[in-house]
Amino acid sequence: MKIQSEDAIHLLKTGNVVAIPTETVYGLAASLSQPPAIEQIFTLKGRPSHNPLIIHVADESQLKPFVKEYPPGFSQLAKAFWPGPMTLILPIQPHVIPSIVTAGLSTAGFRIPNLDLTLHIIKATGPLVMPSANLSGRPSATSAAHVEEDFGRDFPVLDGGSCQKGLESTILIFQDGVWVIIRQGSLPPIAFEEVLGYQPEVITTVSADKPICPGQLYRHYAPKAQLILGDRSRIHEAACIVGFKDRLYPHDKRQMLLGSLDQPEEVAANLYKILRQLDQENIPSAWVDMDFPSDGIWKTIAERLTKASD
Ligand code: TXA
Ligand code: MG
Repeated sequence: MKIQSEDAIHLLKTGNVVAIPTETVYGLAASLSQPPAIEQIFTLKGRPSHNPLIIHVADESQLKPFVKEYPPGFSQLAKAFWPGPMTLILPIQPHVIPSIVTAGLSTAGFRIPNLDLTLHIIKATGPLVMPSANLSGRPSATSAAHVEEDFGRDFPVLDGGSCQKGLESTILIFQDGVWVIIRQGSLPPIAFEEVLGYQPEVITTVSADKPICPGQLYRHYAPKAQLILGDRSRIHEAACIVGFKDRLYPHDKRQMLLGSLDQPEEVAANLYKILRQLDQENIPSAWVDMDFPSDGIWKTIAERLTKASD
């Protein structure tokens, strides 16, 4: 059910869950001051309770009451990338954030999204927790129609059109004297080099004694369709081809095109839409052309496709 921003503000303030757009993906929002609504987010998504949520604020003044200490480089990162697709994991003051949000951790993830519509809402409601607005394990939602696909036509969603970025925020944490990336996202590691003086390492392995991104442990981004990645000898096994506008593929199969090889931003913005389209059309299997560059945002695209194929 499409709602207006003033409805979204009212619903959020009165303890309801609504879906709202951001520049990365749509979020399933609840007010940080409404724990029952936050609990409902976990139920609606089928999300494990030990997977913490990102807190979205409108500006740094909304962030201040929660943060215990700002790691070195925080101000430079915030100045360069907020509002924007960057989430920073920061040490938090005790007892200021409901433990359902943090999964009991002594840190929380924070982000200032880069969409005026969203910032207008957060200014009015105060901080919002927002996971991506998809059922757990499914591809994220990059349009209001995707949200309705997962949560039904009656679910309140503020329609902000298609998300400009189409991939989630990049998540960083400060550990052992450096910032590291614990979830790849819309901002590639190289984007941080000028600000930090180094490219943050991407931590993908899980080790018990290091802070990790709990969400990375779960199945993610997956359509029902089986994805066959890259191996050209297996094209014939698939019902459909997911590839690029500028390539030729066998004509006897349905083709779904992500965009052009020289427009990685376009490919990123289309990725979840195409993964969802496979299921909309009940396509049992798709061969995915993985022959693309490995720099910048392409790395995130490859990581999402790999996870989606699990
Ligand atoms: O672009 C985005 O970040 C979107 C939009 C809606 O803002 N949100 C999003 O939220 O992707 P979600 O819940 O789908 O993913 C958040 C990830 C999860 O993998 C979670 O485990 C991790 O952030 N996370 C949250 N708090 C954390 C913490 N304190 N330490 C480590 N990882 C954390
Ligand atoms: Mg998600």
